Amino acid sequence: MAQNLVTECICHDCSFEEVKDYAEKHELCTVQELREHDICSTSCGLCAPYIEMMLETDQTQFTPGEPYRR
Ligand code: FES
Repeated sequence: MAQNLVTECICHDCSFEEVKDYAEKHELCTVQELREHDICSTSCGLCAPYIEMMLETDQTQFTPGEPYRR
């Protein structure tokens, strides 16, 4: 059985792929800047460590808890 992957900000219904494209288009490079654009991470915040890792690595799919194991 395939493992479930973390691929989106659930609260904003926005995939990390979409967040990455938005960040590149608007030249945003921090979670705080993305929050200020209200694209992700402004509600429960559980996606924030994944978004942070995405900004560093360009990765858009993560195993659950992956940013905490670095
Ligand atoms: S999952 Fe992104 S703010 Fe809740």
